[in-house]
Amino acid sequence: MDTRQFLDKYNLLANKIDADRLIAEFLSEMKAGLAGRDSSLAMIPAYVTADRNIPVDEPVIVIDAGGTNLRVACITFDMDNRAVIKDYERYPMPGAVEEVSATEFFNQLAHHLGPMLGKSKKIGFCFSYPAEISPELDGRLLRWTKEMKAPEVIGRFIGRGLMAALGPAGEGKSIVLLNDTVATLLAGKAAGKKRYGSHVGFILGTGTNIAYMEKNKNILKIIVSDASGSQAINVESGGFSKAPRSDIDNMIDQASENPGINQFEKMISGRYLPEIVLRALKKGAEEGLLDTAGRHWIDRQESLDHEQMDALFNTGGSGITKSTDLSKVDRDCIQTIANAVIDRAAKLAAINMAATVIKVVGESSDLPVCINIDGSTYYKAAGLRENAERYLKMILRDRNIQYDLVHVERAPMIGAAIAGLVN
Ligand code: BGC
Repeated sequence: MDTRQFLDKYNLLANKIDADRLIAEFLSEMKAGLAGRDSSLAMIPAYVTADRNIPVDEPVIVIDAGGTNLRVACITFDMDNRAVIKDYERYPMPGAVEEVSATEFFNQLAHHLGPMLGKSKKIGFCFSYPAEISPELDGRLLRWTKEMKAPEVIGRFIGRGLMAALGPAGEGKSIVLLNDTVATLLAGKAAGKKRYGSHVGFILGTGTNIAYMEKNKNILKIIVSDASGSQAINVESGGFSKAPRSDIDNMIDQASENPGINQFEKMISGRYLPEIVLRALKKGAEEGLLDTAGRHWIDRQESLDHEQMDALFNTGGSGITKSTDLSKVDRDCIQTIANAVIDRAAKLAAINMAATVIKVVGESSDLPVCINIDGSTYYKAAGLRENAERYLKMILRDRNIQYDLVHVERAPMIGAAIAGLVN
């Protein structure tokens, strides 16, 4: 068996993924999710619109609970909607490494927010996990993703839990909680002067997900007073279950904190990509693709972090594959496997974005759709962005759909600040 046959056998070849078929499946899961029918896409109404004016020079406290970090800051906007970020601090996310109880979880959030409390009565809370949003803009955690370990928090309202932990210090404060993709959508909307048909927020970092604007009349599972309006939907696209998985994906899923959940995320996001590469390389060695030196090298690798994964692509002096005594055949094979994993992730990310844009505009568009993209994996994993953008272009150009890709630095925090101020 050569490397290509191996990649084919393990469903790791991007060109074997039928984009049209998967987009159709994605759209049908979206529709089912909006109607409250069984679906792998949660399609969570965010109760947030994107058309309010941002007040100038009014401070808002922002807390951003992400995959690995917890960030706090105080943000104001100038007359051009430009964010001024002050008192920015970053802490490890409680529960990301070691298990915490609900009390410890909320106490740690409250502790880090404490020094900021004098800055504003308004708090924008960017919460990067699946949470069902209430019309009062709090969020009840549906499940953890990204290997978080804080089981007692599941089912709890996050804003309310934080308020309780703040005690008297929280009196008079209002918290607006939103998903990071919704925040990213809002930040993209505020950043540009150009007219767009609609806005999308896509994230590919530790986890992955997308948000877009939906007409209220299409959200059949809730009753809305303003049927002619629209609101952001948190798709929770990491949960999409129709992408063709491989034995390697299934192994990773089974070994994870939440088997069976967020399988799409486990194929493309930064929390899992290095592990897919490592497991694929080990499988390749087992199946005889590598020489003795290559086999020994991969046997010694118990884990792979992002830096090591990136080094696999580095053909220069610092690359792992150069710094050991591997044959050219082994080096090529390792790089081909690593590239294939990234390329597959890129195509799936493009399919996710394309399906969402198609949901927004139908089969063609006059005004372009603005996709604001955030996340370290998208911008940093070798080749991922280039490949994703190439696939996206192929898919949307064929359908004559116009779109712009934008990148707003610190979009989740900025979007949370906007939501905290205008809601
Ligand atoms: C979470 C989403 C989040 C995404 C990106 C996923 O694991 O379920 O809510 O938007 O990661 O951070």
